[in-house]
Amino acid sequence: MCGIIGYVGKEKKSLHVLMSGLKNLEYRGYDSAGIALKDKENITIIKAQGKIAKLENKLKNVKNTHLGIGHTRWATHGEATEINAHPHEMENITIVHNGIIENYEKIKRQLIKEGYKFKSETDTEVACALFNKIYKEEQDKLKTLKKVNTILRGSYAFGILFKDDDRLYAMRKDSPLIIGLGKDENYIASDVPAILEFTNKYILLDKNEYAVLDKENICIYNDNLEKIDKKINTYEGSKEVAMKNGYDHFMIKEINEETTVFDNLLNQFDMSSIEALTKSMPKLKKYEKIDIVGCGSAYHAGLVGKSIIEEYVNIPVNVKIASEYRYNKNFNDKKTLTILISQSGETADTLAALRKTKEKGFDTLAIINTVGSSIAREADNVLYIKAGPEISVATTKAYSAQILMLILIALVMGYSSNNISKTKSESILKDIKMLSESIKRTLNKENECKKIAKKLYKANDIFYIGRSIDYSLCMEGSLKLKEISYIHSESYAAGELKHGTISLIEKNTPVVAIVTDETIEEKTISNIKEVKARGANVTLITTDKILKKYKTSDFYDQCITINSKEITTSIHIATILQLTAYHVANFKGLDIDKPRNLAKSVTVE
Ligand code: F6R
Repeated sequence: MCGIIGYVGKEKKSLHVLMSGLKNLEYRGYDSAGIALKDKENITIIKAQGKIAKLENKLKNVKNTHLGIGHTRWATHGEATEINAHPHEMENITIVHNGIIENYEKIKRQLIKEGYKFKSETDTEVACALFNKIYKEEQDKLKTLKKVNTILRGSYAFGILFKDDDRLYAMRKDSPLIIGLGKDENYIASDVPAILEFTNKYILLDKNEYAVLDKENICIYNDNLEKIDKKINTYEGSKEVAMKNGYDHFMIKEINEETTVFDNLLNQFDMSSIEALTKSMPKLKKYEKIDIVGCGSAYHAGLVGKSIIEEYVNIPVNVKIASEYRYNKNFNDKKTLTILISQSGETADTLAALRKTKEKGFDTLAIINTVGSSIAREADNVLYIKAGPEISVATTKAYSAQILMLILIALVMGYSSNNISKTKSESILKDIKMLSESIKRTLNKENECKKIAKKLYKANDIFYIGRSIDYSLCMEGSLKLKEISYIHSESYAAGELKHGTISLIEKNTPVVAIVTDETIEEKTISNIKEVKARGANVTLITTDKILKKYKTSDFYDQCITINSKEITTSIHIATILQLTAYHVANFKGLDIDKPRNLAKSVTVE
């Protein structure tokens, strides 16, 4: 949420770096954008409400410099206006901020008493004034940063310019910040893709650390203001992750990347036998209960994982939304493994749920995409899904990879607890290894998904129905559709419809029905017949195997089937749901990668 970029280096280069960085960070928020460019004497600030393109239109006569900061905003305090856009300035100080300052109102009241005047409604402008006040008192920049850090409460990362200094300053508490290393130039950014055009070398700034950058040097200080050495990381992926490579949108590019993502995920383990796989995964045998915690799609992946783990391991799995889990009473203990799922590894509620579990002294395992993210660093164990940066705000490849990781966990736990025989485990392993090949068949169904999307895109309400694991998939299908197409949609457990919701079904109401669970397929089909009898227009998503059993097609209007090995069926269905939602939004001509009101990486509670 909100993206920060900063540059110090070559003459007349900052504008290019800031704008390129902002474009790659735009998925973190697009309510407004702004930059501040500093030359010897002046700091020039240019801001615009709305997407980066609007800011770009204002840059024609701007004097380029060697030093600057930029920001793309997801509004929290104050509307999405130009005045509330970052950077904010107050006399000596100009800042950009990612996060939330919880005690800003109290600080603001005090600063107003001291004569400070504020133009915006933001917490950031208050922080800026506080930096200014403390700097006047301390006359020392590092001490100012540290003192501000002791006063502010909340989560934040800042990029800071001082009027009387030609260096770039940064500090971090709970929001992510990296330092990029170039030749005669250095960077700060909220994530690595923002600077990949310029460098793949970076340092992860930790909580309560401060950085001072000029074009040749990077100095990092701990909370005692002692200079510290930090590990320099090299990003191994390609620069192209931040490019569309001929696709119309990142979302469709990322769906098509699923083949390589699954290979990358599996290749980090020894897949030669079930024993080898078990040895290359964390030790999971001792757990008698699992809690899975996540938000949005990560929560939905957890629900799919629950069905699979309960079936293969025969232990209870509770799946909770992170924002609820943190405040609920949870009955976990030493024998419970809490699995935190997060693509970004920065989601505030998931991070808080992790900390709550750790405080109680219980074991945690994180399933994460972003290497070095807060959740990855704080969990007892981490499994990376290796999906590569996901730029589209709506997750696709990461959600599917989260399910794949949960399947591996189910297999390894099932095998090591003797719930699945060696022969069966080896056979499942073989099926999993074929996934990246078999998903190509499902990706080739894009045109079929497009035909279904054409039938759906004018609808006002769309229902998704299914039972057990198919219901969990419905939840994700419905979320994917509504977040990018703005069509109201609900997912419903098929057997629950007649307890109220069926009254919403009338002639031509679109219903997407998912049927893959053979143990209850007949019951789901009865439920489909019930909505069909009330005039629904039914799109059936099922397997070739199930469809073959039915001689008549009177219970659906259109159908799409997949051919998959049982263990990976949910992943194939997810791809169909993603492709369909994508084409619905595309028919509507919407800004698919940046749906309104949303941002990737939700670092506020
Ligand atoms: C939906 C979507 C969100 C995220 C959720 C959790 O397409 O992307 O629902 O899944 O915000 O984010 P992470 O996985 O980063 O914790």
